[in-house]
Amino acid sequence: MITGGAGFIGSHVVRLFVNTYPNYRIVNLDALTYAGNLENLKDIENAANYIFEHADINNAEQINGLFAKYKFDGVIHLAAESHVDRSITDPNAFIQTNVMGTANLLNAARTLWKGNEEGKRFYHVSTDEVYGSLGETGFFLETTPYDPQSPYSASKAASDHLVRAYGNTYHMPFVITNCSNNYGPNHFPEKLIPLFIHNIKTNRPLPVYGDGKYTRDWLYVVDHARAIDLVFHKGRNGETYNIGGFNEWQNIELVKLLCKEMDVRLGREAGESEKLINYIKDRPGHDRRYAIDATKLNKELGWYPSVTFEEGLSKTIDWYMANDEWLNNVTSGEYQKYYSTQYN
Ligand code: NAD
Ligand code: TYD
Repeated sequence: MITGGAGFIGSHVVRLFVNTYPNYRIVNLDALTYAGNLENLKDIENAANYIFEHADINNAEQINGLFAKYKFDGVIHLAAESHVDRSITDPNAFIQTNVMGTANLLNAARTLWKGNEEGKRFYHVSTDEVYGSLGETGFFLETTPYDPQSPYSASKAASDHLVRAYGNTYHMPFVITNCSNNYGPNHFPEKLIPLFIHNIKTNRPLPVYGDGKYTRDWLYVVDHARAIDLVFHKGRNGETYNIGGFNEWQNIELVKLLCKEMDVRLGREAGESEKLINYIKDRPGHDRRYAIDATKLNKELGWYPSVTFEEGLSKTIDWYMANDEWLNNVTSGEYQKYYSTQYN
């Protein structure tokens, strides 16, 4: 079972598994919140090894029923509320889904696998944000103490702790990965890269928080999906692996690069899109810098990002230029309300 498979990263994981493992039965469990979109999986929806279950991880009864029905032997758990800004305006939704929803899955897996844990695996997909914020130097290691600073990262940290506690207390076979910022096709246009591509395309202001000198480590989403495949199959039980892009960018430098690339795509004069940059009030409690040291995953399992940032960004922009219908669908309705509350 893959939870959150209709979302951004989940859809890339589902596609990779469906195409790579014809002998698996892959169940995508997703509640289809504002961030979930079955359009993301159009190309594989009729595959013989794929099943979609419209279900909510907050509904314990429904989750228990699905574990009884399918007798899952592996869970890859991505379903979550995932946007920091939304966690600042509505923390309870994050506590509910990310903490209680994860607990519901753990309880269902524990009941099904009790006494028969051999060959089972609960894979919890987490974030580097649980480690808090870095200064100008240093990297997050798997041993870095947790120090989450936003309601989003605190809820993810809580879920990581629960997974480890179930491993320790009930012998739940688990792995956890903590990944840096992803980008790529199907990314919901509330996060920096897709939001700014969309705004440049439609000539809207580019809302840069604070001084713009916040730093993130960007990874192409397909490389994250490859890492998940590798860790799911070959990662050691009870271990944590960091996943990162070896690719740090200050927001403002990244935004200028996006503007430059978009000028070319849109046939605008050089420098035209940069005029849309608009420094606005900072995000409360904004983490200054994230940077992952993914050496453990590289040394143990040989993983390294396969897509350069130049290639990945170019593919991402191509995708957003070619998928107006997808963008129009996800930016109508609820999105308009969110946008005006967040940025006006
Ligand atoms: P996303 O917001 O694009 O997708 C989340 C998916 O979960 C959606 O399909 C949504 O419908 C589903 N979902 C939400 N609540 C649910 C519920 N109660 N029951 C069932 N399904 C529900 O998120 P994403 O960016 O693809 O992130 C996926 C996972 O990866 C999350 O756990 C996130 O914390 C983690 N992560 C994300 C990033 C990133 O850069 N996006 C980086 C590291 C880790
Ligand atoms: P985001 O994509 O929300 O990911 P995260 O906060 O999980 O790292 O934001 C990436 C960076 O971009 C972060 O430093 C906040 C900044 N940012 C802006 O400056 N303006 C925006 O409108 C958004 C959404 C983000």
